[in-house]
Amino acid sequence: MRIIHLSDIHFGAANDNTLEILRDKINKSAPDLLIISGDITQNGYQQEFITAEKYFASIPIKKFFVPGNHDMPQWEIIKRLTQPYKLYKKHINQDLEPVLIDKDVVIIGLNSARIVLPHRNWANGAISSMQINKILQIRKKYANHKIILVAHHPINRVIDAPIKYKVFGATAALRAIKEAKIDLVLSGHLHKPAAQKIHDTLFITAPSAASYRARGCKNGYMEYEITPEAIKINEVDF
Ligand SMILES: [Fe+2]
Repeated sequence: MRIIHLSDIHFGAANDNTLEILRDKINKSAPDLLIISGDITQNGYQQEFITAEKYFASIPIKKFFVPGNHDMPQWEIIKRLTQPYKLYKKHINQDLEPVLIDKDVVIIGLNSARIVLPHRNWANGAISSMQINKILQIRKKYANHKIILVAHHPINRVIDAPIKYKVFGATAALRAIKEAKIDLVLSGHLHKPAAQKIHDTLFITAPSAASYRARGCKNGYMEYEITPEAIKINEVDF
């Protein structure tokens, strides 16, 4: 299975030229699956979601989305509190936490964004005990599959992260990831590529695919080639 993993496009604050280059590269590479680990829009505005929907429609490849903290209204507080995922569900995907079951691989989507958090910065994330149980249940059912988790926020503590971030429930989630011997955990949020191996698990953070706010890094994405024997990883930047 060949996968391209994008993150943090931020339609509304994305570079048009970069978006063209990105689409070209994806369509030429023609992977089996495109994973988009959240922050599809900048402000959660309808126009940003419409642009995103049109863009993804021009890439004829199967897609797997999870939302990020920017994919609900950032400035319209009533909408954020009452209908946080109305536009995401309409323009991106009804399902906030898809699960894809393939011959040798199971991909589990986790929504790590929260409408509110017990913290002054609601851009932070969380993993709940329900989400942790879901991981453990799926591992029990698919004992011999490779398992990939996709969440917008890095559950691991990324060394030299360019922004401060916190994931509520990360300690318990990391314990479950270790117990379930999860193969890959994919995230974004930092706009900086990172890789870290903890026990049996490889944690990969993708750079921002097209945002202006590249935080000193180039725009780019990650590629994975997954066989029963191995996972090959490649970083592409432009
Ligand atoms: Fe984010």
